[in-house]
Amino acid sequence: MSRPRESFSSKLGIIAAATGSAVGLGNIWRFPYVTGTYGGGAFLVIYFLCILFVGLPALLSAFVIGRRAQKSSISSFRKLAPNTPWFLTGYLGFLGVFLVLAFYSQIAGWTLQYISFAVQNTFNGLSPTGIQNLFNEFIHDDKATLSWQIIFIIVTGLIVLLGVEKGIERFSKILMPILVLILIVLDIKALTLPNFQEGYKFLFHPDFSKIDSTVIINAMGQAFFTLSIGLGTMLIYGSYISKRDNLASTSVQVAIYNTCISILGGLAIFPAVFAFGLSPSSGSGLAFISLPSVFQSMSGGYLFGLLFFILLAIAALTSTISMLETIVGHFAEKEGGKRIRITIICTLIVIVISILPGLSTAGPLENVKIFDLNFFDLFNFSVSNVIMPVGGFLFLIFTGWYLKKEDVREELTSRGNFKAKYFNFAYILIKYIAPILVIIIFLNGLGIL
Ligand code: PHE
Repeated sequence: MSRPRESFSSKLGIIAAATGSAVGLGNIWRFPYVTGTYGGGAFLVIYFLCILFVGLPALLSAFVIGRRAQKSSISSFRKLAPNTPWFLTGYLGFLGVFLVLAFYSQIAGWTLQYISFAVQNTFNGLSPTGIQNLFNEFIHDDKATLSWQIIFIIVTGLIVLLGVEKGIERFSKILMPILVLILIVLDIKALTLPNFQEGYKFLFHPDFSKIDSTVIINAMGQAFFTLSIGLGTMLIYGSYISKRDNLASTSVQVAIYNTCISILGGLAIFPAVFAFGLSPSSGSGLAFISLPSVFQSMSGGYLFGLLFFILLAIAALTSTISMLETIVGHFAEKEGGKRIRITIICTLIVIVISILPGLSTAGPLENVKIFDLNFFDLFNFSVSNVIMPVGGFLFLIFTGWYLKKEDVREELTSRGNFKAKYFNFAYILIKYIAPILVIIIFLNGLGIL
């Protein structure tokens, strides 16, 4: 017997849950380190353009497809485009979800270790170099990193068992605003660090000579990653949005909140990077190396540090929940009431796959390289820069070219509930501008254009 589809109880609930999916390690861990690696301000400009002209239209398309079909990703394509291969888009997303969970959970595991460091006041008295050494020692302890990673995956699995409304909505609504408050406190503190202007300059003073195809493809990848688009996650959220709610304003709000949080993270991290003599391009440890030094230098740092890592772990958790829910939601819908069994099986599969990236920084798989990348980097690169943009591109093409224009209009106006004067503009973005940009960026990345 099929249950009636759950929908979010309030407008705030949708925005909180979709923002909960979007906001996570992508903002505080990934955004600063890719921005640092690919040149700061110039990267940021391209990234903003990608959010605006590619990410937002793709997010809107995901919402349109999900709400129109009232199903999870594969079933949505099967329902709206029966007897066509469109459902394969959903399977591509599933592949992406397993890969993203497998590497994302590793960094999420780091946050657990950092909570434990913070509780024990481990950072106390350490110089920035000492904090850097602590980080290096930890990531080279494969047993510790893998254990935290698996714990994190299991916690995610347990929460998904609780179901959409209770599990996700309650969590994200209360906790995200607290994370934002802590980031603001950190930003203010960062203004008092020596040399903080250097950080601001790095972030906001674009050096356009640094832009090349690698910068552009990474900026687009970050835009898709941070908005959780292309895997079916946001599509499934679309199916939970009530028929009366405004899809365009929901996606704009999610994109704005999400972008602001990344910037708030950057405004704390980059001044600290320069103040403590670190390199902005030092890679995936950037946030974990720079922020503990900020906590150390401020009064109440113990408490702020502890609270920060707890909230970061929770932000990561709301994202991993949304990833797992993408797959569980599909099979639970198909198999009726077998949600518990499905969640357990999916969680176990994720654990098994996660061993590959989990043991690739240190441990037995350290020297296994494919295309010169270890498993962690390979998963990270292929999900963000390939699978998510391809998935997002297919959402755009489906919405712009397969669905009837009138059906898209019906969704954007919520059956005439809103005027949606911007409809033609949004439609042109979805149908032409965003997909063409994705193609150009890919061709450029492949060296063809
Ligand atoms: N957007 C999330 C983050 O920034 C990551 C994510 C990717 C979530 C894909 C769901 C699906 O942390």
